[in-house]
Amino acid sequence: MPQAKIAPSLLSGDFANLAAECKRMLELGADYLHMDVMDGHFVPNLTLGPPIVKSLRKHTDAFLDCHLMVSEPEKWVNDFARAGASMYTFHIEAAEDAGALIRRIKDLGMRAGIAVKPATPIEAVYPFAAQLDQVLVMTVEPGFGGQRFMPHCMPKVEALRARYPSLDIQVDGGLDLETIEQAARAGANVIVAGSSIFGADDPKHVIDGLRQCVLA
Ligand code: DX5
Ligand code: ZN
Repeated sequence: MPQAKIAPSLLSGDFANLAAECKRMLELGADYLHMDVMDGHFVPNLTLGPPIVKSLRKHTDAFLDCHLMVSEPEKWVNDFARAGASMYTFHIEAAEDAGALIRRIKDLGMRAGIAVKPATPIEAVYPFAAQLDQVLVMTVEPGFGGQRFMPHCMPKVEALRARYPSLDIQVDGGLDLETIEQAARAGANVIVAGSSIFGADDPKHVIDGLRQCVLA
């Protein structure tokens, strides 16, 4: 099983103080900073794009884990690479040629990930798994923070872990100190959490607790 990585989702942070939010999360032990990119088309919400990644990059060396919830993910690869994104995770449902897109992402020096929505069978990523740095199994419908974890997505994580013992498997949506148990047991090791970390009185306790559960 690969290393545990905790990725606070900045979607639940203060967008007017992102540099400070990043610094705070890193000091509390975050491994990645998860950045949710939404285009109002692939999902019914709008968030951030390359200019924000670029601005943030000037303030931090952190691993910027960009989750592209956009139609035509091919369009933005160059801009995110230039802005300083570390990981470019696109949705398989939106990609025209996932294999070609993975190659472009890597040629530009970023790590490559594929995300699957709750209704998308996990078999869809198998042809690309060997080329990927990460597979993101969504545990809510993408678009908004603060939704309830969907336990019925766990068999997809289990199937993926059984097939790829050393792959980074990320889960995103509704993860907290309760739901983490199911996700960790299924084999997830990269944990995105927005509202449970940013909304906590003691966010360090949540980050530590999520990590311990993955390591257990
Ligand atoms: C949802 C996003 C998530 C979101 C998670 O579409 O991909 O990253 O910020 O938020 P919580 O942890 O609050 O479900
Ligand atoms: Zn996300």
